[in-house]
Parts: sequence; C-alpha cells; structure tokens
Amino acid sequence: MRSTADLFRLMRSIPDFRRYGHLQEEFGFDHWHVKSPYRRRPYKRRVVAVIDGFAPETVVEIGCGLGEIICRIKAPRRFGFDLEASVIEGAKALHGSAVAFHQGDLCKPVAIAAIVGGPIDVLVAVNWPHMLPFDDIVTAIAGLTDRTPVRTLIIDTIHPDRPGYQHYHTVGDVRRLGDVTATVSGGDFIRELHAVRLSQ
Ligand SMILES: C[S@@+](CC[C@H](N)C(=O)[O-])C[C@H]1O[C@@H](n2cnc3c(N)ncnc32)[C@H](O)[C@@H]1O
Repeated sequence: MRSTADLFRLMRSIPDFRRYGHLQEEFGFDHWHVKSPYRRRPYKRRVVAVIDGFAPETVVEIGCGLGEIICRIKAPRRFGFDLEASVIEGAKALHGSAVAFHQGDLCKPVAIAAIVGGPIDVLVAVNWPHMLPFDDIVTAIAGLTDRTPVRTLIIDTIHPDRPGYQHYHTVGDVRRLGDVTATVSGGDFIRELHAVRLSQ
C-alpha cells in the first residue's frame, strides 16, 4: 500500500509524467525516465543538496538520464554524460545548453576527460552503479583520475534487503576509492549516498 507521502509525490509528478511521455515518444528512451521524475524520487533532491554543499566549480554527472540532478546543481561548469544517446537527446531538449550533455560511458573515461578538459570538483554516479561489479567501477574511476584530477565522488549503494538489483555494493567497497567523508540516507529506504574524497 502506498504511503500518503508517496501518493502526494505521485500527484505532484503528473505534469512531468506528461512532459517526459511526449519526449519519450519523440526520442524513444527507456520508460524508467518517464516514471521517475524529480518530485517522485526523493534521493535526487538529496543528491543535489549534498553536491551544493561543496560549492563546486565543475560538476560531472555520469549516467545523468534526462539531467534532472545535474540541471539543479549550482555550478558554473556542468556536464551530463549517459550511455544512451536517446536520453541525451531528451536532456538537451529539456535543458538546452545550460548543461553540456554528451553521450558517454564511465567505462570509457578517456573520452569523458577529453570533453571536460580540466579538473572535476564533483563527479556524480547515482542509481546505476548497482549495474556494474565494483571492480569495474574502480577501474573506470582510476582511468578517469589518471587523466584529470577528480576531487569528490558522489555514489550510492543499495540496501541488501531490497530485491531486484544486480549488485549490492557496500561502504567497504566504496572505501576502495578513497575516504568516505559523508554518508546520508537517500530518503527512499532503498539507497545510501556517499561522498568520497578520491585517492588520486
Ligand atoms: C536509472 S537511470 C538514473 C538516471 C539519473 N542518474 C537519475 O538518478 O535520475 C540510469 C542511467 O544510467 C545510464 N548508465 C548506465 N550505465 C552507464 C555507464 N557505464 N556510463 C554512463 N551511463 C550509464 C543509463 O543509460 C541510464 O540512463
């Protein structure tokens, strides 16, 4: 049964369901993006708040989807990358040039570093790292930090009692990347968000 808060979020999301549904018809991206707008998914707001706390100059979100998180972050240089070209087209249609959106894969960090072209204050990867074994994430992040300095990573881990995810990384896994400076709840009983000062 849905909670009152959940129903409230669902109702507030109706305009976004419509808008994103039209974009999906045009660009053909995955339905997840239509059913998961910002007002429906409390973790997105928490990610934005955590990142704004760093007052960053350059923020790069990998796996940005329609850009709902990156477009709300206050930073002069913002980049959004996603594997799926179709969702990147949707993000561009929604947000114009306020954020630099590109098709890109974290596992191909050379291309990402070349596009960003300088140090990254905050790198964001949320609600998809559970698709990869943690070894692949470590390799990909090392590939990026070899090419450009990256100060802080924001990454999530999924609670082990939530069924249906491919990988359940632990805070111990996340510590392989550097010092975990903060951990907060995603506000959804699904995930925790970690800020990691990356080892360079
Ligand atoms: C569930 S959506 C989450 C989107 C966004 N992070 C959010 O929370 O609103 C996951 C997105 O990650 C993208 N993705 C998955 N693996 C990726 C990778 N290796 N590099 C870049 N994007 C990836 C998918 O294409 C998809 O758009």
